[in-house]
Parts: sequence; structure tokens; C-alpha cells
Amino acid sequence: MSDLEAIVDSATAAFAACSTPADLENAKALYLGKSGRITELMKGMAALSIDEKKQLGAQINVAKQAVEALLNQRREALLDAAMNAQLATEALDVSLPGRAARAGGGLHPVMLTQERIEGIFGSMGFDVADGPEIENDWFNFTALNTPEDHPARSMHDTFYVDPLDGQPTDTPPLLRTHTSPMQIRHATAHVKAWKASGQAVMPEIRVIAPGRTYRVDSDATHSPMFHQCEGLWIGANVSFKDLKVVFTDFCKTFFESDDLVLRFRPSFFPFTEPSAEIDIQFAHGPLAGRWLEVAGSGQVHPNVVRNMGLDPEAYIGFAFGMGMDRLTMLRYGVNDLRLFFDGDLRFLSQFQ
Ligand code: DAH
Repeated sequence: MSDLEAIVDSATAAFAACSTPADLENAKALYLGKSGRITELMKGMAALSIDEKKQLGAQINVAKQAVEALLNQRREALLDAAMNAQLATEALDVSLPGRAARAGGGLHPVMLTQERIEGIFGSMGFDVADGPEIENDWFNFTALNTPEDHPARSMHDTFYVDPLDGQPTDTPPLLRTHTSPMQIRHATAHVKAWKASGQAVMPEIRVIAPGRTYRVDSDATHSPMFHQCEGLWIGANVSFKDLKVVFTDFCKTFFESDDLVLRFRPSFFPFTEPSAEIDIQFAHGPLAGRWLEVAGSGQVHPNVVRNMGLDPEAYIGFAFGMGMDRLTMLRYGVNDLRLFFDGDLRFLSQFQ
């Protein structure tokens, strides 16, 4: 084999062994670079006669072109391989169904209920108040006439929070177990503003307070985080009759049903006296004929009125607390509370 053939053979093998463009450029330098083997042969011709130069020059050119052709082939092969690898990893299955264009997001069904509640009570002159989810013992229990040994205070029912460094540990912070602390928070702020105003008679307190609440509880109808809405109406002459009228009106509007009936079932809550559980019964639909509990309620206990900064001889009223998750389940016929908190779009998108 001539030198030139040997060079072409060796270039063929060297280029084939390259697996990246960078390797290939390095291999090219060995043959066609400044001191590559072919370049060296050309330099060596300087000393030859004209005839020899012509003959050998032509042969070297043939070899050089062969090496260049090999180089280009290998370049293309490497580019093809890179492209195929990229296509394989970014493969698109054009037979998959397309994604429908979505018109933005939507409100969670429980938030739809909250908006509805705010709208209905707003039309009856109720303000909407918001307050902290991390509460203290005073607002969540003591001010609401809930005694030290009340079972609602036990670790089984209430999530207690580690106090921050330096904070007192005798009454650890807790996640509010109901929205009732908002009765005290809102009323005391209202009373303070009234007293500062110098008005003789207090403008009525009429407020709802929707929000998240927490209890150690988890099954198909209980979730450790759930939603309540508190209601409070205090004035010089607000009675249980007003509670009945307001709540009946609310339920009929909320469920869009005029023949819905309500039952005020005697019950006990520390912060109301008398207290009642409110049940509703639909006349039509899958739940017709069953009593369904929707709220706790009652006439605000004199001790609670006092903790609002008011004289219970002069001011009286009612309060109620309803489960917004439960109202949502009843309105839409959802039978498992956990669906609200799974975040499954197949469920949630049905409410948009
Ligand atoms: N806070 C009570 C609970 O979570 C519900 C409740 C009952 C609220 C009676 C009230 C009320 O305002 O008057 O079970």
C-alpha cells in the first residue's frame, strides 16, 4: 500500500472513531491541519523536480480530496445522529387529543358559597368581617363563656400552636376551632368606635364573619380544616324572632327554594342562651323529607355581651354559626367533603 493510501485508510478509521463534532475537528487536524500528515507531504514536495511535483501533487490532491470527503460524510453523520437523538427525546405524539383552551381559573365551590352568603346577608344590611386564624384562648374560649374544663378545649379537638420564643406558655396559641371569636373581636372594635363617636345609642352590630376553622377531625364529613360563617346581630331590641326571620330568609334564598322548612331544635352552646341547632328540610329533590343540620344559633349569652363591652341589660341579640362546606355539599349534592380539598380539576371544573 502506498503512503497515501495508508493515510486515507487511517483517516477513515480515525474519523469513524469520533463520536462528537469536537473529536472530529481534532482528528481533522491530524491530517489536514498545519502539521497534519497530508500538509506535511505537500511541504516535502518543495525539493522535487517539476515533473515529480506534478505527478506527486496530483496524487496528494486525490488523497486530500478523499480525506475531505470522508470528513464531510462523518460530519453529516454526526449531525444526523444528534438530530435523531433530539427528536427521540422530544418526540411529539401528534395523535394525542389537543388541550382545550381554558378561560382562566375559577372559584372553588366553597368560595362560591361564601360569595353567595356575603351577597345575601349584605342585602340584609350585614357587614363582612375577617380575622386571624391563629387565635388565643380569650377570644376562642374564655370570652365566649366556655369554661376551663369544657371538652372543646381538649387536645383531642383543638390544634395548639407552639408559642414563639419569649411568649407566655400558660395559654398557648391555637388554630381557631370556630368563627365565633369574631363575635368578640368585631363587637369590641365596634363598641370602641361607638364610644369614641359620642353617640348616645349604639348603631346595631350586624355582621357575618366567614373563614377557615380547624379541628382534630378527619373523615368523609369532617376535615381538619373546614369553613364556617359566623353571624351576629346585637341591638337594643333584637330577639329570637329576628333570628328566625333572617335565617329562614337566608336559607330560602341560598337554596332558591320557597317551600324549604326550618326547625330550631333546642341545643346547648356556652355562648348562647337559649341555644338552638337549625335544621332544614327540602320539599323536593334527592334529600326531600330529611332534616339536615346547617347551623348552631342562639340568643347571645349575657356574659358574652359583657365581654363585648356592653351592658346585657341594654343590649341583646342573636348569633349563629354555619358550616360553609356543608352548605356547599347540600347545594351541589356532593357527598364526600374530602373532594373539596383534593384539588382534582375533574371535580373542581364542574363548578365553573
Ligand atoms: N361555634 C359553634 C360551633 O362551631 C357554632 C355556633 C353555635 C355559633 C351557636 C354561634 C352560635 O354563633 O350562636 O359549633
